[in-house]
Amino acid sequence: MTAEESARPGTGSGFSEEDSAGVVVESLRNTPDQRLKEVLTSLVEHLHAFVKDVEPSHAEWQAGIDFLTAVGHMCDDTRQEFVLLSDVLGVSMLVDAINNRRSAAATDTTVLGPFHMVESPPRELGATISLDGNGEPCVFAGQVTSSDGTPLPGAVVDVWQANGAGFYDVQQPDVQPERNLRGLFTTDEHGRFWLRTVVPRYYPIPDDGPVGQLLAATRRHPNRPAHIHLIAEAAGHASLTTHVFVEGSPYLDSDTVFGVKESLIRPVTVVDDPARAEHYGVGNPFRLLEFDVVLDPLGEAGR
Ligand code: BEZ
Ligand code: FE
Repeated sequence: MTAEESARPGTGSGFSEEDSAGVVVESLRNTPDQRLKEVLTSLVEHLHAFVKDVEPSHAEWQAGIDFLTAVGHMCDDTRQEFVLLSDVLGVSMLVDAINNRRSAAATDTTVLGPFHMVESPPRELGATISLDGNGEPCVFAGQVTSSDGTPLPGAVVDVWQANGAGFYDVQQPDVQPERNLRGLFTTDEHGRFWLRTVVPRYYPIPDDGPVGQLLAATRRHPNRPAHIHLIAEAAGHASLTTHVFVEGSPYLDSDTVFGVKESLIRPVTVVDDPARAEHYGVGNPFRLLEFDVVLDPLGEAGR
């Protein structure tokens, strides 16, 4: 028998309801890429188990196919409906957890989200990222350290957030200035960063597509609590993707993408301190959101 013939599921392949997954898994036996074989085998086994559990009618199976087709049709350069689907089903957070088994000292991670689609512009420490001034002014500041507490000068902190109305610049290209509320900051000799922005607001994820229909059908709201996104990177350390969530925001206990962790919630305080106001280049008193970031050295905790 040739390799081609032996790879063929074949006539009379022995397909049966009882051993449906086994028959298909057998057809994968010549897959040269072992990881692909492993992943497909698991996919087939889980998918067949799902179908056996649900026992869909033909109409129901077609409805599922129609739904995934609609998700694909909703995707373009600025809209990733499959990411949203993964997010609202909690799969993005699970993949994040599996890939971020860090030391207890390191800052917790959370989802990247679909709006980190353009590069943040490098900005000086203290610069504002709010180019339209839409929202309540606020200083965002913190320190990046290694897990043993050593400050990390020269760390790069990428920051992005929605405006005071709850929209990202890429969602409103005709309304917001390009790269509004985005910035790439390099920490000073003490590992500190600070910038001016606006207090973020809670917002709904895009819900005018099939994922929105899924949320509506399951009586779920589409909202995320107020947050600022960060990616922190430093030489010799595992990079970290996370958010800081604003204490008291609506939806902290029901984030539609399951991204909230208690350890990431911080208050926006009002500070009355002329010296600090001068340091940050703002009037006194001022709003302040502080968030320190702890990175694991590469090689620790398996990463
Ligand atoms: C975000 O926080 O930007 C986001 C995350 C998941 C889905 C939609 C938006
Ligand atoms: Fe966001």
